[in-house]
Amino acid sequence: MYRTSTCGALRASDINSEVVLSGWVHKVRDKGFVVWVDLRDRYGITQLVLDQDRTPDQLLDMAKELGRETVIQVKGQVIERASKNPNIPTGDIEVLVSELQVLNESILPPFTIEDETDGGEDIRMKYRYLDIRRNPVKDNLIFRHKVTMEVRKYLSNHGFIEVETPYLIKSTPEGARDFLVPSRMNAGQFYALPQSPQTFKQLLMVGGMDKYFQIVKCFRDEDLRADRQPEFTQIDCEMAFVEQEDILNAFEGLTKHLLKEIHGVDTGDFPRITFDEAMQKYGNDKPDIRFGMEFGELNSVAQHKEFNVFNAAELVVGIAVPGGAAYTRKEIDKLIDWVKRPQVGAKGMVYVKCNEDGSFKSSVDKFYNQEDLAQWAEVTRAKAGDLICVLSGSANETRAQLSALRMELAERLGLRKPDEFAPLWVIDFPLLELDEETGTYHAMHHPFTSPKPGQLELLDSKPGDVKANAYDLVLNGNEIGGGSIRIHDKEVQATMFKHLGFTSEEAKEQFGFLMDAFQYGAPPHGGIAFGLDRLVSILGGQETIRDFIAFPKNNSGRDVMIDAPANIDEEQLKELHLKLNL
Ligand code: AMO
Repeated sequence: MYRTSTCGALRASDINSEVVLSGWVHKVRDKGFVVWVDLRDRYGITQLVLDQDRTPDQLLDMAKELGRETVIQVKGQVIERASKNPNIPTGDIEVLVSELQVLNESILPPFTIEDETDGGEDIRMKYRYLDIRRNPVKDNLIFRHKVTMEVRKYLSNHGFIEVETPYLIKSTPEGARDFLVPSRMNAGQFYALPQSPQTFKQLLMVGGMDKYFQIVKCFRDEDLRADRQPEFTQIDCEMAFVEQEDILNAFEGLTKHLLKEIHGVDTGDFPRITFDEAMQKYGNDKPDIRFGMEFGELNSVAQHKEFNVFNAAELVVGIAVPGGAAYTRKEIDKLIDWVKRPQVGAKGMVYVKCNEDGSFKSSVDKFYNQEDLAQWAEVTRAKAGDLICVLSGSANETRAQLSALRMELAERLGLRKPDEFAPLWVIDFPLLELDEETGTYHAMHHPFTSPKPGQLELLDSKPGDVKANAYDLVLNGNEIGGGSIRIHDKEVQATMFKHLGFTSEEAKEQFGFLMDAFQYGAPPHGGIAFGLDRLVSILGGQETIRDFIAFPKNNSGRDVMIDAPANIDEEQLKELHLKLNL
């Protein structure tokens, strides 16, 4: 038997018992006449002790030679520690070693296996299995397990059936590129890895499954960011005979359950705002509402003077930065430089200091008097002591820029508190989105999303104005889920494909199976998919999903540990009927 307990289990109540422990040597402290070894496993650390008086010389010498990360097994007696360590659960006891066996040696690890390690990101990714031995990574994986189990339990208890759908499929358009898999048995043909199980879950509704969920890998070949991985996991859900209200209620229930179970947080009902309102108030369709700093549109109070920058702008919009009036000139200049960075792209920034005495001092005092500025303060809800930051230009760009500034300032001011949770629904998304480059419209969510009742007719005349039965769930400024009520009528789906630029042949070739299915009594249905990695990381108070994935890819989509993607040999290429053209 390798062990009678784990390294996190022993307490004062175990004193005098004989135990066998196995684990990794975390640290050895050699005082000559006495040696302490910290023995570590997933459950914790137990201190082992060997000394001149009570341990045979040979064993003591052996302990002194133990290198970090060596795997050992020990037998010994649990004894009371002379100096207790209140910081760890096993801190009252130590194990007086009577037998010691090395199970496996370790060469020197490339970084220290400590909570605060000296290893940089690259080296930790290359040796991820060592990184996983560290508490921060290990704890994140355990946390993920806990969240996942709660999700499964909740959905199963609410009548959802987990069904697996295939990974080798035909491409489904969800906006990103597909990862493709060449078929050996079908020369020249390719499978695609699913960007989501979208069409399959709809077919399960046609199949009468009624309530489906799946915790499922999805694959998207897109540019990577902190909140995106090429393969990621969704909690994918679909329900039949539902309206938008039913879906929002069902999954608000799941989210509330998670917040309660994981954090003991009771949130009230989630606020709902429309996409248009979100863009107007926050310049963003996934607003962080843990803090205020809502946009104030200033056109009507700023376009009546000789300041041509504002007069020429489609939108003049500002936010009040709490306490910002105290910023020095240098600090404000830095802020202006920040918004002018290419990543943000503003041309400049106008500011107003709202002094404690009720007066205002602005960078455009030449054009605006105190009454003007008082109106700006009213619109942006600025208080004495605040700084109003104003941007202007085309509406979409300016909103995006001010949103970036809002988030940056909130971060600097510590307003994005990781232990505070502010969920909200964003509803009434536009059905279509204009691709500025090609001038064509594509589905904002996906082509299976239904327009709001009575809006189908607008598709021809005002395609950009058509609103969809689509919704996102936003948590702390992150889109953690999105879904829609689907089209379940063959004719409507055909019309939709037509507006998205598919010929009827193309639609049949790509989605014939779905259109066929719709002929056999497809029930009204809708659903949602959560990004599990994102959900877990935000619940965990962080925003980098990589930290909650056991073996993530780096920003170039590489797994640096196994070194993938990699070349394949000629023979394999031939079998797959492929020729490289590099
Ligand atoms: P959508 O494309 O909005 O909807 O995806 C659902 C959720 O998945 C997460 N997500 C990602 N997480 C990590 N890395 C990525 N590359 C990534 N891409 C998306 C987000 C997002 O909200 N089939 C539809 C759902 C439906 O209509 O029911 C879908 O996939 O958190």
